[in-house]
Amino acid sequence: MAHFQTIRPEELGGDVFTRIGKQWMLVSAGDDQASNMMTASWGGLGVLWNKPVSTIYIRPSRYTLEFLEKEDYYALSFLPEEHRDAHKICGSRSGRDLDKAAAAGLHVCHDQKAPYYEEAELVLICRKLYVQDMTLDGFVDRDLIDKNYGSGDLHRVFVGEIETVLKR
Ligand SMILES: Cc1cc2nc3c(=O)[nH]c(=O)nc-3n(C[C@H](O)[C@H](O)[C@H](O)COP(=O)(O)O)c2cc1C
Repeated sequence: MAHFQTIRPEELGGDVFTRIGKQWMLVSAGDDQASNMMTASWGGLGVLWNKPVSTIYIRPSRYTLEFLEKEDYYALSFLPEEHRDAHKICGSRSGRDLDKAAAAGLHVCHDQKAPYYEEAELVLICRKLYVQDMTLDGFVDRDLIDKNYGSGDLHRVFVGEIETVLKR
């Protein structure tokens, strides 16, 4: 069992653009009976409603979305470089078809309000605050529609309060 210490969001440090955009993260939700996760590289960390929040963007086709919808919490797990290969599975295969954690050699932990992964170096446990689908009329830069939504699968946006930060 990995040993994590709890830190405050203000102590996170690092560069959020690299952390999310380049290191990538696992978005997970579920309970000890059933859970799922997927790789994500789009998202944000910031402040909203005077709370530290994460924002994630999930397409309707993702199996992980079903768990995100059902549960009150989700987790963001950041894996160290040596587990980079795990993202090949978690970012391309669906949990509908296989147990991705087992296939990727990841061990799920259930001692928080959302499932996260023992191999992570940093974990954010987030409480859902706000959920909304993107809509076509919201796009000021219309080029983004053609570039990203050829099949119309606009992202669902989740904003969650960062309640717990676990650092290895
Ligand atoms: C680097 C990378 C980043 C990704 N970022 C996102 C994302 O931010 N939102 C999203 O909906 N899908 C994203 N995906 C795609 C999902 O990870 C992928 O479709 C996954 O297989 C979904 O698994 P699931 O069906 O088990 O939920 C990304 C994939 C990769 C490889």
